[in-house]
Amino acid sequence: MAPRNPNSEKILDFVVNKGNGIKGLVDTGIETVPDLYILPIEERLLPNNILPYDSIPVIDVSNWDDPKVKESICDAAGKWGFFQIINHGVPLHVLDAVKEAAYRFFGLPYEERNKYWAGNSPTDTVTLKTSFVPQAEAVLEWKDYLSFRCSPRDLESFPLWPPVCRDEVVEYMESAKSVIRKLLEVLLEGLKVKQIDKAREYTLMGSPIVNLMYYPHCPNPDFTAGVRPHSDISTLTVLLQDDNGGLYVRATENDSWIHVLPINGALVINIGDILQIMSNDRYKSIEHRVVANRSKDRVSVPIFVNPGPDAVFGPLPEVLESGEQPLYKEVVFSDYFKYFFSKKHDGKKSMDFARI
Ligand code: OGA
Ligand code: NI
Repeated sequence: MAPRNPNSEKILDFVVNKGNGIKGLVDTGIETVPDLYILPIEERLLPNNILPYDSIPVIDVSNWDDPKVKESICDAAGKWGFFQIINHGVPLHVLDAVKEAAYRFFGLPYEERNKYWAGNSPTDTVTLKTSFVPQAEAVLEWKDYLSFRCSPRDLESFPLWPPVCRDEVVEYMESAKSVIRKLLEVLLEGLKVKQIDKAREYTLMGSPIVNLMYYPHCPNPDFTAGVRPHSDISTLTVLLQDDNGGLYVRATENDSWIHVLPINGALVINIGDILQIMSNDRYKSIEHRVVANRSKDRVSVPIFVNPGPDAVFGPLPEVLESGEQPLYKEVVFSDYFKYFFSKKHDGKKSMDFARI
């Protein structure tokens, strides 16, 4: 990586080393985007590359057992990799409460937030971070996030979690569990897997992570990335966004992007790399990116449904049954995870780690 200019070094020190986050920088009243956050033109999302009339499917899941619902889910997973669900059964008040909890946490004074900054946190199950991997990024992402590891064992450290948001995070995770299970059942049934036994459950959803993402308002959001184009490494991701919008999904062809329209009460679902690998490319883990908002602070709350750390995954035997060649080798999840977090967000390159 090329050396940074002295001003960028100063900002990096304030935001990353001192743990102020981009939130702290915005609070100083900056009126322009610092160099450290300015993307080269070819990496920006240009208006010409946004498809104004397209949208990802919206699926009403009030009846999970309806074959048409199952078909819509599997079709969307294969064609778009992204869809929204409505009437999913997670109560609106739970969704609103976790979004409010995110604002509450990021509204805390520096000293209170900083207690959870990576390296300071009383437990490694909760950490506050900024950007993605600042040490590997020439240009940083305009976001801070508080990350909760949420496996049953991780939940033992609940008493050490920030009191302003911990109940809401757990309640959201708990109420989303049955939706996650249903989605996985339907998607795996589409791959001829009849039943999710304990071992498969561990591989599919052994160590979920819930993030409270915070994208403070940005003087010129067109110059910078909230999140760069990337695919998620999860099996699937359940995302709650607020009504500001700003999430874009790569369209099937060319360098064009589709806005994910905020729908009150809906959850955005996307297939992650793991499920693409397990399905031997039947389902698609599609790139997406976030653009911050000029006047409002945006929050979102993804649940990354991840395998247990030592789970081994690869194309499912049910998928390869009829003699199809596997496109991926078997990989231990913790190795995949480490690889992903060693480099900046870079489209779908993380999947090369498992490709044959
Ligand atoms: C992510 C992500 C989208 C959002 O954190 O992987 O894609 O809307 N977030 O915050
Ligand atoms: Ni993502």
